[in-house]
Amino acid sequence: MKPVREPQINIFKKSSPLKAKVISNVLLTPEAGKGKRPKKEGESLIHRITLAIDHSQYPYLIGQSGGIIPPGEDPEKKAKGLADAAYTVRLYSIASPSYSFGMKEDTIEFIIKRDNVYDADGNVQFKGVCSNYVCDLKEGDEVVMTGPSGKKFLLPNTDFSGDIMFLATGTGIAPFVGMSEELLEHKLINFTGNVTLVYGAPYSDELVMMDYLRGLEKKFPNFKLVTAISREENNPFDGGRMYISHRVKMLEAEVKKVLSSGGRFYICGGPKGMEKGVIEEIQKIDGNSGTYEEFKHHLEGAHQLFVETY
Ligand SMILES: Cc1cc2nc3c(=O)[nH]c(=O)nc-3n(C[C@H](O)[C@H](O)[C@H](O)COP(=O)(O)OP(=O)(O)OC[C@H]3O[C@@H](n4cnc5c(N)ncnc54)[C@H](O)[C@@H]3O)c2cc1C
Ligand SMILES: NC(=O)c1ccc[n+]([C@@H]2O[C@H](COP(=O)([O-])OP(=O)(O)OC[C@H]3O[C@@H](n4cnc5c(N)ncnc54)[C@H](OP(=O)(O)O)[C@@H]3O)[C@@H](O)[C@H]2O)c1
Repeated sequence: MKPVREPQINIFKKSSPLKAKVISNVLLTPEAGKGKRPKKEGESLIHRITLAIDHSQYPYLIGQSGGIIPPGEDPEKKAKGLADAAYTVRLYSIASPSYSFGMKEDTIEFIIKRDNVYDADGNVQFKGVCSNYVCDLKEGDEVVMTGPSGKKFLLPNTDFSGDIMFLATGTGIAPFVGMSEELLEHKLINFTGNVTLVYGAPYSDELVMMDYLRGLEKKFPNFKLVTAISREENNPFDGGRMYISHRVKMLEAEVKKVLSSGGRFYICGGPKGMEKGVIEEIQKIDGNSGTYEEFKHHLEGAHQLFVETY
């Protein structure tokens, strides 16, 4: 049996942060106006950011998040006359596996989307402060970080034979890239179950890291990738947009196997609250007659459900 690993949290705080240098910043989606998304729906610009990090200093586990502090002062805090007007920390799911444990890599990765609000014509109305700052970073730039954060959204820390279902929307794919790599490629634990990754996005060219994920599917017979492309596919139930919850309904056998094998469901992404539709489908497949809250609580208590929606 491999050793149990426990998460360490808040080693770096806002008052004593870590400085990390940018190694690369790659746009994963088509440039603005060049993708499938019509102009009136705004833009979807998702970047993969790689930073240099000393893992002995910042020993994260995949599933944890890193904090990033955007530079400058928050005009709202300044207007209120606050002594500390620095921007609040924003959290980003770590997308690279837990390299700290005997691995040589000295990097950490994030998958970050410019979080902007668009008007009815698709023009930028409001810009997210931190996500735009990060997506504009260049090689060699320095980033101020806190963390690691979070101690619940983690992989099993010892031998595991149950099935695992990852359910992501949008940038919710980030932790599952690292988790899949860790489970299948790095084998930090003895994992003998199956992984089903259900991944939803509005357009097919907004699904990111697909070459990597398809590669995993080719290499590992116990890894299955299922997509839900909401604005290109219709679900077979009411003919509306295809969501990950519809895919769950269509994956009844896989869901049953997760439930019966003592396996795990991990749900990540936005919009906040999207987990409800997914968990309701799991509950129907389970034949559980309790309330939604009771069922969710039951699965969480049994360490079979982990949710990080934002
Ligand atoms: C645990 C966790 C993990 C996360 N992981 C990821 C991840 O892996 N990838 C990722 O991309 N994100 C992730 N997020 C979200 C991330 O933390 C930020 O919330 C996101 O990047 C937005 O931050 P921002 O500073 O860019 O936007 P903010 O400046 O905080 O603005 C928030 C939103 O408000 C809008 N806005 C600004 N001004 C106005 C106004 N006057 N009126 C109306 N709207 C306005 C902005 O356009 C934006 O959409 C995660 C969140 C959590 C909690
Ligand atoms: N990373 C970020 O940019 C970020 C940060 C903080 C908050 N958020 C919030 O998260 C939400 C998603 O944004 P995103 O850009 O990350 O993702 P995205 O690329 O827009 O993908 C989200 C996917 O989930 C679908 N969806 C919508 N409601 C759902 C539901 N109830 N159940 C299952 N799937 C559902 C969407 O479909 P349709 O859209 O086609 O209906 C879309 O296909 C937004 O509300 C956003 O404000 C995003």
